[in-house]
Amino acid sequence: MRDLRQPWQHLPLRLRLTLWYVVLLALTVLLFGVYLHVQLERRLITSTDGALTVMATQMLSVLDEEAGQPQFEESDFQATRPPRLDEAGFAARLLTPDGAGVWDGLGAYTDVPMLAEPGEGYSQRMGVDSEWRVLMQPVRHGGQIIGWLEVAQSLDSMEETLGTLRELLVLGLPLILLLAGGGGFFLAERALRPIKDVTLTARGISASDLSQRLNYGGPPDEVGQLARTFDEMLDRLQVAWTQERRFTADAAHELRTPLTVLKGQIEVTRSRARSPNEYELTLDQLKEQVERLIRLSSDLLFLTRLDQARPMQVWEEIDLGHLLASLADQIAPLLATKQIQLTNDVMPHLLVYGESDLLIRLFLNLLQNAYQYTPEDGQVTLGARKDSETVRVSVTNTGSGIPAAALAHLFDRFYRVEEDRSRNTGGAGLGLAMAREIAHVHGGTITVESDLGKGTIFVAPLPHYPGR
Ligand SMILES: Nc1ncnc2c1ncn2[C@@H]1O[C@H](COP(=O)(O)OP(=O)(O)OP(=O)(O)O)[C@@H](O)[C@H]1O
Ligand SMILES: [Mg+2]
Repeated sequence: MRDLRQPWQHLPLRLRLTLWYVVLLALTVLLFGVYLHVQLERRLITSTDGALTVMATQMLSVLDEEAGQPQFEESDFQATRPPRLDEAGFAARLLTPDGAGVWDGLGAYTDVPMLAEPGEGYSQRMGVDSEWRVLMQPVRHGGQIIGWLEVAQSLDSMEETLGTLRELLVLGLPLILLLAGGGGFFLAERALRPIKDVTLTARGISASDLSQRLNYGGPPDEVGQLARTFDEMLDRLQVAWTQERRFTADAAHELRTPLTVLKGQIEVTRSRARSPNEYELTLDQLKEQVERLIRLSSDLLFLTRLDQARPMQVWEEIDLGHLLASLADQIAPLLATKQIQLTNDVMPHLLVYGESDLLIRLFLNLLQNAYQYTPEDGQVTLGARKDSETVRVSVTNTGSGIPAAALAHLFDRFYRVEEDRSRNTGGAGLGLAMAREIAHVHGGTITVESDLGKGTIFVAPLPHYPGR
């Protein structure tokens, strides 16, 4: 399949982070440079305008006049100021009222372009080789405009300052980016190094040895959390995997025992000629073993199916009161064979939502156990009542009870209490495992409590509506 990712997505994360960082920083510095340039230019123009105003006011106050024509004062300006004014890039001139002719001038005034229409105020004019900032003001005499005063300042020095700024920015930008890029790469590398370590360790963990852990020693930051989550996942996987292996081994073992018995019986029978009666007896014994095998394999199959996701469509509303009452009726004759007294303590109208076949199997397993593990003349109580969220079903029986050490494993597959293993009663030890799975499927649980020498109680609280 084609890889639809963009080419840059193939770059290592630390390089991508650094690139992003550098691009963003370049944009920021550029924007900042433009802002600086604009602001500085504005400031310089404002201060030039200030100087021009002061100059114009000063000049207007000391203007000479000859035959109706304004003139710059002889002594002061022409003798001392012009060289200094020139140096400072300053020029001034007096224009005719129509702005077309020049009365008088100071400095490099010929370089300053003339306006077609005279008008009061500031303007910027492009001369032959420099730009000028010009202030134009009317010269009045008795309320009448008799000419115009133009004071101009060359913008050369301002251009020079701005040019230096541009140079600094252009030279400084690559340097800044280089430093920032290097620093960014270093930081990204440092931040991502733990991830690299985690990846390398994780790669070394093989499916056959799930006992290895990352055991990350770093701080509990994002990477630390990832490593811890990973270790926890491995814990769960290891438990599941160990259980799976044990289950397979146990199942194989349980299947082998009846098969070995079958083989032995067949061999013994075939070792010499037998009477029809003897054959009949052997066949009956074989049938018993085969039935045991069938039960075992169908139980295993049932458990495997329970593990898989179940469709909820087959669920229905079930009255547990009704269901348990009929189960009690069915089991009563069996209990009677051991003179066990059955007490029915089931309330009516106990609604739960679920699959009736499964629930029947759950309670039948508990009742069968009660029958198998209650001594003669004992007592069994089937109880069920409703509380706010669940229906609590309980099966209590008298007897020797279950040792505390065994209680923790009681619901494990193939687990049987030591003393019961040798007995003929009971099966493979799958009954309670099944019961618990079914309870889980219905959103409930099963718990057990046992008093040695007195008896045992199994309690299964099942929610009315699982998942709500
Ligand atoms: N009511 C009970 N009283 C005393 N011990 C019990 C009771 N129920 C179960 N046990 C013990 O728990 C073990 C596991 O029960 P479970 O129903 O899972 O298996 P099983 O009855 O031996 O076989 P299976 O149910 O598969 O035929 C039993 O072997 C028995 O030792
Ligand atoms: Mg059982």
